[in-house]
Amino acid sequence: MADPEIRKGLVGVVADATAISKVNPETNSLLYRGYPVQELAASRTFEEVAWLLWTGELPTPEDLAAFETLERSQRSLDDDVRRAIDDLPFSAHPMDVVRCAVSVLGATDAGLTDDPASWTDADLTRERSIRLFAKLPAIVAYAQRRLRGLEAVEPRDDLGWSADLLHLTFGDVPSLRVVTAFDRSMILYAEHSFNASTFTARVVASTLSDVYSAVTAAIGALKGPLHGGANEAVQHAFDEIRASGGAGADAARAWLDAALAQKRKIMGFGHRVYKNGDSRVPTMRAALEELVAEYERPDVIELYDALEGAMDAAKGIKPNLDYPSGPAYALIGFDTAIFTPLFVAARVTGWTAHVAEQFASNALIRPLSAYAGPAQRAVPASAAG
Ligand code: COA
Repeated sequence: MADPEIRKGLVGVVADATAISKVNPETNSLLYRGYPVQELAASRTFEEVAWLLWTGELPTPEDLAAFETLERSQRSLDDDVRRAIDDLPFSAHPMDVVRCAVSVLGATDAGLTDDPASWTDADLTRERSIRLFAKLPAIVAYAQRRLRGLEAVEPRDDLGWSADLLHLTFGDVPSLRVVTAFDRSMILYAEHSFNASTFTARVVASTLSDVYSAVTAAIGALKGPLHGGANEAVQHAFDEIRASGGAGADAARAWLDAALAQKRKIMGFGHRVYKNGDSRVPTMRAALEELVAEYERPDVIELYDALEGAMDAAKGIKPNLDYPSGPAYALIGFDTAIFTPLFVAARVTGWTAHVAEQFASNALIRPLSAYAGPAQRAVPASAAG
């Protein structure tokens, strides 16, 4: 029998159809339910985009009002979630903190009964998706605040989702310019077809498990530096370049040459699907420029441009969304270890939309493997025998 063709990393494999988003590397575009993400980021709030991803349509004013009322009523940090977080060591990575917190939300959802039908019910899955969306800001903010020895802040129901996340983290609401730039980053991070964490969520959903289990697993997948963890790694690279004594083109090139000589992957560059640039980068770079102006830090964009130019000259590889978002979150004042949890708070919308889509048209995801171990052999007699 001919050897089976192995598509390592599932490169080029079309695993299923989705109506949620379309990534088109040829036209360098990304559509959410048919709408260009750049247009959504320019004109809509993250709440509207979340609704769009879940339902397929932008909300009417009545839909939005009802959704916001429901979402804002669920924002507080549950006592059992806070206790679970408090039991974790301060050395735990904030992604592990957020993963545990989501797991607790699942374990304390009374709607998940012994009847597996309650795990995949469409209406309950939507309610749980809104619950996760509403509660993640308080969880991420608390993960940040405890690292600074600060108590949790109570949510405010007069604020939009992004403004409240920033208020929950920093204790006050930054300028509209900062809130808008942050909200845009959340919209850009919300969804991106069958990326590794979304596919993970769909694999879990395909076993007819529940949405909390799927999101918990997706958080684990997002943590890795080849995926969401890249936004943290970009900041580490910037820190290394600054520590080398410069932030200009020479320092960036010297750092890059050394890193490439060590065969290091340069985080925030390259993409499995986009090979000529990531469609989300121009919008996020514009948001970064707003933050650079707000915080009067032109050195950040100088370093950004210097490393991007050096990478283009050395490898011809373009930045992905994590490249502008890392420095943007640093400017707002987040610790580097909180960058990927922020990605979780955004991507939970896409993950949960995909879980619902998987439930609605399910087939267990279970590929085959080619065996590459020893041929069948007899177990030798036990030495003890
Ligand atoms: N730094 C250095 N070299 C890179 C690179 C990077 N960021 N991204 C790709 N390359 C090189 C690879 O070394 C490889 O070179 P080779 O053919 O000489 O071995 C070639 O480009 C193809 O890369 P490969 O890793 O096989 O492509 P992929 O489609 O599997 O990888 C990523 C896509 C995203 C995993 C990869 O670009 C990467 O690791 N980027 C850094 C992590 C990152 O920013 N992740 C966030 C993604 S949104």
